[in-house]
Amino acid sequence: MSDFKWTRKDLLSIYDLSAEEIIHILDTAEEFKKVSQRRVKKVPALRGKTVVNFFVEPSTRTRISFELAEQRLSADIINIATESSSLKKGETLLDTVKNIEALQVDLIVMRHSATGAPNFLAERLNCGVVNAGDGAHSHPTQALLDLFTIREKKGSFKGLNVSIIGDIRHSRVARSDMWGLLKLGANVTFAGPATLVPEEFRELGVRVCHNLPEALEGADVVNLLRIQHERQRSGFFPSIGEYSGIFGLNESVLKYMKPDAMIMHPGPINRGVELASALADGERSVILEQVTNGLAVRMAVLFLVAGCLK
Ligand code: CP
Repeated sequence: MSDFKWTRKDLLSIYDLSAEEIIHILDTAEEFKKVSQRRVKKVPALRGKTVVNFFVEPSTRTRISFELAEQRLSADIINIATESSSLKKGETLLDTVKNIEALQVDLIVMRHSATGAPNFLAERLNCGVVNAGDGAHSHPTQALLDLFTIREKKGSFKGLNVSIIGDIRHSRVARSDMWGLLKLGANVTFAGPATLVPEEFRELGVRVCHNLPEALEGADVVNLLRIQHERQRSGFFPSIGEYSGIFGLNESVLKYMKPDAMIMHPGPINRGVELASALADGERSVILEQVTNGLAVRMAVLFLVAGCLK
């Protein structure tokens, strides 16, 4: 590991991080991945620290892997869900977290449907804040686990072609992956219907494409995004069947892919819509490895930010 010094008490977005900081997290995660392969899967790195998992939006992978990461680091853990909190009685988010902080907690891991909610809190709290996904804005630990998986499989990022396909417009994963990949020297393509892939992304250095075979050709990594059924009701595309027929990844379009191209998906998958089951569970898929790597990445993030708390 390098002698790079981590200085952030919060992790809010990939956009904020330098390439060096991203690589430092990935290197740290590599060390933590070894912990989960031991017989005793626990280290005392966060002993005496209290972490609050505050998920105001549903989550399976992110919430469970943060909690497991905290357990493996020996932290004390509190889980708060909206339904059982006083947010339901009309308490403001800031009042709620100020009260949590008054109990001398060290870190808050937050998922929220409102863009910027973790940034708003981080500016007002002394404890650390880790963004577990906010609105369509940012999902930094998902991007970090995607980057970790890509590096593990492909070795490096320079010149690597990564195609991200689906509902780019509403995706915090697409935005976070994009910033991380561009900072590390990869080429990014966003693909999908014109209604879901805004042209403005070209200005950031992304190739925008509305044709699936074109997006697949030459791609080293193909990352599918979940298509939400409510987008059809909002008129972004005519029907799920038509979306799937034109942009769904299935065996009929495999011929356009490089033999060693790998398939990723952040989950949850809409099987048979953006991705056929045969491919989601096939040999090119690294989807469950992404989940495994998410644990190591979240252990690394918690360890690094906890080291910067006053
Ligand atoms: N990838 C992801 O964020 O999944 P969850 O919503 O289940 O956490």
